[in-house]
Parts: sequence; C-alpha cells; structure tokens
Amino acid sequence: MLPNMQEAKKRTDKLVDILYDSYKNEKTINNLTYNIKTYGCQMNVRDSEVMAAILEDMGFVPNPELEQSDLVLLNTCSIRENAHNKVFGMLGRLKNQKEHNPNLIVGLAGCMAQEEGVAKDLLAKYKWLDFVIGTHNLHELPKVLNKSLAEKKLNINVWSHEGEVIENLPIKRESNHSAWVNIMYGCDKFCTYCIVPMTRGKQRSRLAKDILNEIESLVKDGYKEVTLLGQNVNAYGKDLKDNDLSFANLLEQIAKTNIPRIRFVTSHPWDFTNEMIDIIAKYPNIMPYIHLPVQAGSNQILKLMGRKYTKQEYLTLFNKLKKAIPNVTISTDIIVGFPGETEADFNETIDLYKECQFDTAFTFLFSPREGTGAAKLKDDTKESVKKERLQSLNKLVSKYALESNLTYLDKTVPVLLTNPSPKNPDVLQGYTDTMKLVNVAAKKEKIGQIIDVKITKAKTWSLDGELI
Ligand code: 5AD
Ligand code: SF4
Repeated sequence: MLPNMQEAKKRTDKLVDILYDSYKNEKTINNLTYNIKTYGCQMNVRDSEVMAAILEDMGFVPNPELEQSDLVLLNTCSIRENAHNKVFGMLGRLKNQKEHNPNLIVGLAGCMAQEEGVAKDLLAKYKWLDFVIGTHNLHELPKVLNKSLAEKKLNINVWSHEGEVIENLPIKRESNHSAWVNIMYGCDKFCTYCIVPMTRGKQRSRLAKDILNEIESLVKDGYKEVTLLGQNVNAYGKDLKDNDLSFANLLEQIAKTNIPRIRFVTSHPWDFTNEMIDIIAKYPNIMPYIHLPVQAGSNQILKLMGRKYTKQEYLTLFNKLKKAIPNVTISTDIIVGFPGETEADFNETIDLYKECQFDTAFTFLFSPREGTGAAKLKDDTKESVKKERLQSLNKLVSKYALESNLTYLDKTVPVLLTNPSPKNPDVLQGYTDTMKLVNVAAKKEKIGQIIDVKITKAKTWSLDGELI
C-alpha cells in the first residue's frame, strides 16, 4: 500500500473507533539486534518507544551501535527539507553497510513514510531497503517485518488514512522519571506551510480514562513527570463523541493524580481558553512553562499561513498568561522567509519578539513541503536575504534567552535531575519547573529527584547551580 497525499488530506466526520486488542505479540526472531534512529519531534520519540517494545516482543535485542546492528529502523521526520536530507544521507551510509553485510535489515518509519513523493523515490532508487511502515499502522510492525523477511523485497506498508486509535501497544520508555503520554493524534488545523495534517492524519483524541490509567500507573512506578503530547493539545476532546471534555477538564483530572510535574506540547494560540489558564494557574503540579508558537509577527503573513489569529490576539493571550500564571516562561516557534514576507513583515516579527521577550524560540527558514498550500505560493525573496533575516532574529533570541536566565542568578529553584551531563559525568542535568536547563554537581543517586538548586551562573542556553 502506497501513500496518497490527496487521500491523506481528506477529512470526514466519522467518529474514530478505539481498539484495545489489535496488537498481537509475535515472538518470531531469536537474538537479532536492532537499533532505532529517531528524527524529529517528541511524537516520534514516543513512537520509537513503542516500536522498540514491539521489536523486543518479537525477540530482537537492543544494540546501541548502529553499525553492528542486524536491523536498523529509521523513524523519520518530514517537517522541513533538512530533516529529509539527514535521512537520505543516512540511507546512503546504510546502503554501504548493507553491501558489506547483505543480511542487514533496513526499515523506514515515521512521517516521511507517509509522503507519496518519498515512497515513489524509494521504489525507484532505494530498492535495497527492506520495508517501509507508516505512522498509522505501527501495531502492524511484526506482520510487515515478517513479510519482508520472507519475501526479501522492498515492502511498503503505509495507510493514507488514519485508522482507529490503538490502545494497549507495548512501550519501552527511555526514562524512568519522565514519560511521554499521547493525548491525541493528528491535526486538523491545516496551517498552509505544514505537512503534519497529511502525515499524521485527522485529529483523534484518546479517551480520558485511558490517559488517566496510563498516568496513574506511571505514578505507581515512581515517575515524576509526564509530558502530554499532541500536535495541538488545546483542541483535545473536540473530536470525541460527547464533546464535553475539554483540555482544561483533562488537565485538571491529571493534576489530581498528584503526578509531581505535568507539561504539555504543543499549544496553538487559537484554542487557548481562559479555563485552561485558570487550571494551569491553580494547580502547582502543572508546570509554569508554555510553548506557544506565534510563527510570524505580521498579520498579512499570519493570514497566508492560515493561523487564524492576529498579532494583537496573540499579544492579548500572551499578556493574559504572563499575568495569570506566576513565574511563567513562554517559548515560541517562528518561521522566517515565508513566501511573500517583505522587509516590513519581517520587522513586525522582530517588533513582536522585542515586545514578548520570549524565554527562548525555535526559529526556522521556510521550507516548501510537497502537497501543502504554501508550497504553491509565489516566493521571490532571495535565499541570502532570508538567511540574513534568520541571523538577525537569532541574535535577538540569544539576547533575551540570556536576559531571562540572568533573572535566575542567586535564586533557589526546583530541578528534576534527569541525566549526567554529556560533558562531565560528575555533573547532573535537569530542568526547572519553568523549563530552564540546569547543570549541577551531584551524585548519580540524585537522578530522578526534584531538588532545590541555587543558581550560581547564567549562560544563554543553560544555568549552573549548586545543591543547597
Ligand atoms: N518550513 C519551516 N518551518 C516549519 N514548521 C512547520 N512546517 C514548516 C515548514 N514547512 C515549523 C513551525 C512549527 C515547528 C514544529 O516547525 O514553526 O511550529
Ligand atoms: Fe502543523 Fe499547524 Fe497542525 Fe501545528 S497546528 S501541526 S503547525 S498544521
């Protein structure tokens, strides 16, 4: 089954079924090793945790060395051209590896698998690949893999349409302290630049009872933090039958499980309700950090992007959040060089940035994605001009990131210590409630604890601190 982008765009009002027993464990492999390489967002990280568990159910064992693995599975991302390029670069390397070791099994999963153009490319130029599996049928991984091992030819298994919500998939979590929890899949916003509504399908919320069961068992297992995942978590529940459960209601129920830390990504400004703000302000275990992508500061560009809010509406929401939630930090995403962006439009983005003084931002050059509306817009801004704009925006991002971090000097803040610093094993890293990265000298036994740290040094992208 090959993906079809026209099909993938279609939306129906049909309610989505929720299936509890569609995954079957199949132990068919003995002691072959696997390595999953994950590209892209947290949604992919979460999917890789599921694919790892399925592979282990089948009898594969993990191998941290990609070069020595029997199976390499690339969990790919489509969001920008450079994500594609990285994967095609890796495929080049793997082709080489397979020439030396013909038994190597190579699979491709994730958002790129859902792209019609990619599938055609793979069939034409990457016949040596073993299998491709889409984002909607992860639970079929054993079937797909077994078929491919039996037939020994490239096998593409992608559904253009989302299927049901599949519960009870196995999971091998990367962390014992902090867990990703899907609350919904897909997106119906269709921002004109974005390929996600095609690669991830229509919005499908999980039932609150299933989400709460998952979080309650995480609490029992000693987890300190959950991050609720969805392309647009604020729209949670709108697709469910009774439509009476909002994201605010869900957040409140999750807060009452007493999990120490609750985070969520991503919030579209459009659906951010006053009720949500009240709930975030009310419960101390809902972290005072919000990722609120603005994308652009010019109303003309926001309109072309299909974002459905104006700069003024964004600012009103931003100011409400700052006022209602003590210490809140806010980060954003910005796309530079959207088709038709003039110098004046870009300056409005700069003005908005100065006004909001975001704690941090993820900034991107516009990348046309096949099948999206924006890819068809006339774009006559020179690449060099776009790059200059990005650079000047990035300077501002660094300036305000440092200014924000400097306000933490000498303060004592709670940090969930998660891992040793990659640079120094005697130093642990973790995040404050407000999502600031902190380095602190501490014994490994402290990993997984939320500890008060006094901040002694502020840098642009991190803080140093000491235990008190
Ligand atoms: N080009 C550049 N950036 C993009 N994003 C999404 N699609 C594109 C694209 N085609 C950015 C948006 C989004 C983030 C996840 O990636 O800023 O919020
Ligand atoms: Fe893409 Fe917009 Fe949906 Fe985010 S809200 S996933 S940017 S379409």
